[in-house]
Amino acid sequence: MVEKLNLAILFGGQSGEHEVSLMSATAVINNIDKDKYSIYMIGISKDGKWSLYEGDIENIENGSWESVAKPIVFPADPSFGGFYLLSNPEKIYKVDVVFPVMHGPKAEDGTIQGLFELAKIPYVGSNVVASSSGMDKVISKAIFKSYNLPQCEYKAFLKSDYIEDMDTILNDIESGFNYPVFVKPANLGSSVGISKCYDREELIAGIDEALIYDRKVLVEEFIDGLEIECAILGHNNPEASILGEIIPCNDFYDYEAKYLTGGQSEIVIPAPLPKEKSDTIRSIAIEAYRALDCSGLARVDFFIEKATGNIYLNEVNTIPGFTQISMYSKLWEASGVSYTDLLDRLIMLALERFEEIYG
Ligand SMILES: Nc1ncnc2c1ncn2[C@@H]1O[C@H](COP(=O)(O)OP(=O)(O)O)[C@@H](O)[C@H]1O
Ligand SMILES: [Mg+2]
Repeated sequence: MVEKLNLAILFGGQSGEHEVSLMSATAVINNIDKDKYSIYMIGISKDGKWSLYEGDIENIENGSWESVAKPIVFPADPSFGGFYLLSNPEKIYKVDVVFPVMHGPKAEDGTIQGLFELAKIPYVGSNVVASSSGMDKVISKAIFKSYNLPQCEYKAFLKSDYIEDMDTILNDIESGFNYPVFVKPANLGSSVGISKCYDREELIAGIDEALIYDRKVLVEEFIDGLEIECAILGHNNPEASILGEIIPCNDFYDYEAKYLTGGQSEIVIPAPLPKEKSDTIRSIAIEAYRALDCSGLARVDFFIEKATGNIYLNEVNTIPGFTQISMYSKLWEASGVSYTDLLDRLIMLALERFEEIYG
């Protein structure tokens, strides 16, 4: 019999996307091939406490896992090769591969990835630099610019500059763009902290909101367009899925439209686009993935402007929403890769990258 791999599935985390992670991880745990993997369910609370959860999978999403999970330590020291319970440092739980099914800062942004680099344990998804540059919308835009990838006009500034001279920044935004504009914290996801602002008053409120989450703010021109997404899978030779379209049920695809309105936002797969346009978008998606040096997976999001048909790259999500009904998994399913196979592929890619570095 082939020995099972010890797979640590991480969920929760300290970001505003904690709840989204609980949904994604529940789907992963439910669907992973238990004949191939022994699963450690490791939860991270909102205040950053790590613990091993051994109870019912149903109690992950509702948050009650937290009260019964056992505190653990996951050392950065590679000689451990895993983690131990705080109550019993003698017994090491060896981990062969980690799947951080978490989104947002301190989860998808290279920080956790850095821990597993130090601990010398393979992990699913992008490495430190790709994760952190994918998370930071201002950094990723600068990288995309250097690769001449098409994207909307934008401006970025720091909280300290804004506090010092708010009027100059507001005037600069207003002289560069017509309303509405989008205001975003540089580092986040799931539309948390994002506002569509129709006048100066809303712009100021939007900046204040974004500054709750980050010291760096991004302002973008509004693209009146279709929202198109492409799933990428692979390491050195990544593949692009067919495309999907999001039809948000709100004014834009905000947090409520993504998660709270009971699925009233629509997903259309395949996106109804001419083949040539789809192929162009898929190749830009691969270029963007390579530009950031992503690995494993990413969902690359676009707008197609209604009036012109122009393509704009919006963002690269290195750990996209990962439930069975999330766009990422559905795009692969429609491209012929089942959810369970997708999980296998991602774990194999994690091992492949590790082997490439240390083999
Ligand atoms: N420049 C823009 N023009 C039009 N809509 C936008 C623009 N930027 C963001 N949006 C809307 O806001 C949503 C969230 O923005 P996005 O940059 O994707 O942030 P997140 O990382 O939180 O998903 C998008 O899915 C889209 O509906
Ligand atoms: Mg997005």
